[in-house]
Amino acid sequence: MRRRGCAGPLAARHRLIPRPRLGRVTQPAAPARQRVILDCDPGIDDALAIVFACAHPGLDLAGLTTVSGNVDLAKVTRNALSVLELAGRPDVPVVSGAGQPLLRPPLDAPTVHGESGLGAAQLPAGWAAAASGHAVDFLIGEIGAAQGEITLVATGPLTNIALALRREPRLARWVRDFVIMGGSAGRGNVTPAAEFNIAVDPEAAAIVFGAGWRVTMVGLDVTLQARATPDIQDRMRELGRLGSSLLLPGLLGYRGEPEQGDAAAGGPPVHDVCAVALVAAPGLFSCVPARVEVETAGRWTAGMTVTDFAAAQASRNALVVTAVDVAAFWDLVLGAYQRLPAAHEPG
Ligand code: BDR
Ligand code: CA
Repeated sequence: MRRRGCAGPLAARHRLIPRPRLGRVTQPAAPARQRVILDCDPGIDDALAIVFACAHPGLDLAGLTTVSGNVDLAKVTRNALSVLELAGRPDVPVVSGAGQPLLRPPLDAPTVHGESGLGAAQLPAGWAAAASGHAVDFLIGEIGAAQGEITLVATGPLTNIALALRREPRLARWVRDFVIMGGSAGRGNVTPAAEFNIAVDPEAAAIVFGAGWRVTMVGLDVTLQARATPDIQDRMRELGRLGSSLLLPGLLGYRGEPEQGDAAAGGPPVHDVCAVALVAAPGLFSCVPARVEVETAGRWTAGMTVTDFAAAQASRNALVVTAVDVAAFWDLVLGAYQRLPAAHEPG
């Protein structure tokens, strides 16, 4: 059963506001801003997702936690701080977390994201420093203090989330919603079977999918549809310093999934932006409920997200995102970017 527009708390706040009764003049209520914590490993597409989370008027970015992934923990944390500075949000707390997967040796991706993690972008170091403490404590503390209010989005390996769930299993009940960029119901990208974020730490991903909550899986099935084509990059050229210092050099330096078919129709996919955009505008995406299990033992298939769309309703643990309205997605993302001061400063 394919659903147009992902259901659940993500969609609830987008439901129609009841019409005022006749004779009363009321302003339509503005939808509440959705509080979000982003656990990430910037990473070019993570950086673009952070900027979107800062810029979209419906989102309230309550914190960033970092995890080693695309590059090491020191670099991803530095990148997070620099990107927040460019986005005009150095006030957002950044808390670093796990420096390696639960059981396996680190697997990074400088060949995809460049040595710094931000492709050809060269951002100055942010003024703000990372907050003290560990990401796991931050996640449990913030989400526990605002139960039912915070949507947790993970765009890196799931090590921090698994550690947090082990320490505090009630986290799975305390979140408003949980969305990941990761996995695939079809093929992978680091191996034929596995997508990068899951392949880095399959044991963590298995804990996360087995935690008794519903995981909204924004995987390669949908993210490979959201490519920054030459037309989109032209629109980014209109975004002043934001475009010239991060968006364009970042995407230029991206060495991920090769373009398929007509090169003019291709361009780098912006995987992680899709996960945050889903929180802002679930109606743009199609989702299918399923059972997802993570392969941890396979010699050739470790990190595979084995997806059963025919699973009995009671055993479904995921909402698998399968499609996006690509034109509306880019209007949403570029429209949000346009709101940032850096988009109006000379490039
Ligand atoms: C995912 O892996 C990382 O390289 C990207 O940042 C994204 O989160 C795509 O497979
Ligand atoms: Ca990422």
